[in-house]
Amino acid sequence: MKNTFYITTPIYYPSGKFHIGTAYTTVLADTLKRYHELKGEEGYLLTGTDEHGQKIQEVAEKNGQTPKEYVDQMAEQAKELWDKMDIHYDDFIQTTEKRHEVIVQKIFERFIEQGDIYKGEYEGLYCVPCETYFTETQLIDGKCPDCGRDVKPMKEEAYFFNMKKYVDRLLRYYEEHPDFIKPDFRKNEMINNFIKPGLEDLCVTRTSFDWGIKVPSDPKHVIYVWLDALTNYITALGYESEDDSLFQKYWPANVQIVGKDIARFHLIYWPIFLMALDLPLPKTIMVHNWIMMKDGKMSKSKGNVIYPETLMERYGLDATRYFLLREMPVAQDGIFSPEAFVERYNFDLCNDLSNLVNRTVSMVNKYFGGNVSHYNGTPNEVDEELEKSSVEQIQKVEKLINNFEIANSIQEIWNLVSRTNKYIDETMPWVLAKEEQTEKLASSMYHLIENLRKIAILIKPLMNETAENIFHQIGIKEEALKMWDSLSKYDQIKGAKVIEKGEPIFMRLKVEEEIDYLQKVMKQ
Ligand code: ME8
Ligand code: MG
Repeated sequence: MKNTFYITTPIYYPSGKFHIGTAYTTVLADTLKRYHELKGEEGYLLTGTDEHGQKIQEVAEKNGQTPKEYVDQMAEQAKELWDKMDIHYDDFIQTTEKRHEVIVQKIFERFIEQGDIYKGEYEGLYCVPCETYFTETQLIDGKCPDCGRDVKPMKEEAYFFNMKKYVDRLLRYYEEHPDFIKPDFRKNEMINNFIKPGLEDLCVTRTSFDWGIKVPSDPKHVIYVWLDALTNYITALGYESEDDSLFQKYWPANVQIVGKDIARFHLIYWPIFLMALDLPLPKTIMVHNWIMMKDGKMSKSKGNVIYPETLMERYGLDATRYFLLREMPVAQDGIFSPEAFVERYNFDLCNDLSNLVNRTVSMVNKYFGGNVSHYNGTPNEVDEELEKSSVEQIQKVEKLINNFEIANSIQEIWNLVSRTNKYIDETMPWVLAKEEQTEKLASSMYHLIENLRKIAILIKPLMNETAENIFHQIGIKEEALKMWDSLSKYDQIKGAKVIEKGEPIFMRLKVEEEIDYLQKVMKQ
């Protein structure tokens, strides 16, 4: 049986058009899924939309639609974007679907029966956009600590989840499972900011609005949107339904990816809900930072929003995916700027990668009529050095991806690209040709093609089309030679024949022109 790899994104609030920040998580998740599939595993990627709550109800009303009409339309819009971005999701869950709602109700009633949920009264300061109550001390300058907007005092009869009961177990779990939270510093953040000051029981129902899942035994209460939303990761797999085969197959998740603003919900409440359900916890919850603009958060009012469609339509999908994943360090925010985008495009994609492919293909044509089969199978000293450093480089890449450090892994892939470019300077094929050192020349061509094949495999999860384009140009047709486990060896491509005339994969952008263009569209 194949190894499985279950990966989830957050389910998005359908509150407007998705910008590149929102798209980031999903591109990251898709890349990880493709990586595991290249390794011969069976990947499963879940995404969806988080459709209940007061905010959604209000937006729908403003649009003159029922909430359901509104969210269905938004879910379609999300799917369209994921299709455009070639996201291979396996399921898209909407929290207004029956399959989700009935299981959330079942879970809620079970929590009441177990005594994990009890009835009480809630009083606090409520942030409507965040659907969250805060205490006075949690506010920053009297405003919501998450979004900075106004909060208002509210009071209601409500149900509470007994978080205190599980706190020690959660801390022990953190301690005993060092891979549970990545990056590691998020763990201390949770402990110091939320757990040590005293974790309050969580208010898990609302009566102030009704766009939500009703508590079956007390239907004037709707279930708190986070309790509802978090369970999507298991309801989508058919947990507690008639057919729970996907749940049996894929749970616990291998990795759940979330942005830093929702770390608290995923690192504290979610594991506690799972403990209360007697279910295993995901192996890793990976928290990423945000894509910011030079002047802070992206927002329409600031006129600094950039949409994935804008980048894709002008620069292609692969360059867009490349930039998003390349510019996001694990523990810091990444910055989008027109200058950085154009620079990455011109340097990384055009100069480093595209030119390497182009030069190599034209040399193999020039010196050997396109044929790579003249290599005698014995590397010389320079070649051995290349082989050794490339294999080490590939191991580095793999280790980083396994630790979900995607930006760093891309940096290491580009180090391999540079190393391969350097190999051209070292071997100087044009001199070898002039001196008729045919053996060395054949070896040089073979090693360039073989390294390009490896580079194409490494970038395939990230930039599928570019990888396929490289395979095509260097004459790799066999699927086995495109798989991850073919990376470790150097005797693979004996009969390959490159194409006669390759087109450059990426063409140099005019710097000023493109920076102007991007600045203009950001303001629209
Ligand atoms: O939080 N850069 O949904 P959401 C990177 N419905 N990531 C960003 C970002 C940026 N500029 N802006 C937003 C929700 N995100 C809940 C999730 S899960 C059970 C419920 C990320 O649409 C954000 O951090 O507000 C989050 O991970 C995701 O987009 C969805 O945000
Ligand atoms: Mg949000």
